[in-house]
Amino acid sequence: MPLVTSKEMLIDAQKNGYAVGAFNANNLEYVQAIVEAAEEEEAPVILQASQGAIKYAGLDQIVAMVKVAAEAASVPVVLHLDHGTDFFQNVRCLRAGFTSLMFDGSSLPFEENVAITKKVTEIAHACGIPVEAELGKVPQVGVTPEEVRALMTKPEEALRFVEETQCDSLAVAVGSVHQMKVQEAKLDIERIAKIREITGIPLVLHGASGVTDEGYREGIKAGICKINIATELNKAFTRGMKAAMEKDPSVVDPRKIAGVGREEIKKVIKAKMRLFGASGKARNFVAKGVGYGGRQELSASDLKKE
Ligand code: G3H
Ligand code: ZN
Repeated sequence: MPLVTSKEMLIDAQKNGYAVGAFNANNLEYVQAIVEAAEEEEAPVILQASQGAIKYAGLDQIVAMVKVAAEAASVPVVLHLDHGTDFFQNVRCLRAGFTSLMFDGSSLPFEENVAITKKVTEIAHACGIPVEAELGKVPQVGVTPEEVRALMTKPEEALRFVEETQCDSLAVAVGSVHQMKVQEAKLDIERIAKIREITGIPLVLHGASGVTDEGYREGIKAGICKINIATELNKAFTRGMKAAMEKDPSVVDPRKIAGVGREEIKKVIKAKMRLFGASGKARNFVAKGVGYGGRQELSASDLKKE
């Protein structure tokens, strides 16, 4: 089916107590692995490209690859911009055909983050495309536990942020850290629940490769509706390619190397979809038909907890 937006997908996840897996793609093999895994699990899926991935693979090439893969699939697929730290990057992705955007103003002072996020939501909503924003900051590896805590999203700021920006989902800093290679981050579940209670909108967990399985389950119960995985996929792709080269050091056909990496990525994604409760949920969309009604039809109050 054609690409869909993340709007209805995250509302369905919120209503039905699961999280949509959002998987970062860097090249063709990632795109194939993500969409094939979603098909096999009958799961809705968000395929996301970071600014780094766009620089590596090319904006139009990514859109073309993902569109073709989504159109051939029977499950709903979203193409999302991950960590767009620039207003113009968001505009370029909107124009190129992304069906979900993120403005990441987490390095900016509160008021600047609000101002630019608001500009992005205004233009994106005019085109029927939802926007994820970030409040607080999910840091990169190498930070101390004290630094992680200091950067966490403040529930008391969240309502004003969401009301002023009209963002459709919110990335929260609640204990996870980007690029962790082991699952040992501890989430502040109470904080997630509080932000969920105050804002009512779907919450997004970044840095989720480092979160424990228990953390996923508790986080989803508290209000997480989208879970971002990048590092674990990179580990899987590299692990598969290394294994293929070690198994037969004379191999020179790259398909025999990258193909094994692609299978490793697929295994990781399928396991995550089951953990997130997303497997089988594609049926919810087929039943009611997918599509985004746009701000004019779907107001902020529709996003509040029922
Ligand atoms: O935006 C992408 C994710 O937050 C990636 O997190 O490094 O833990 O996979 P990760
Ligand atoms: Zn992230």
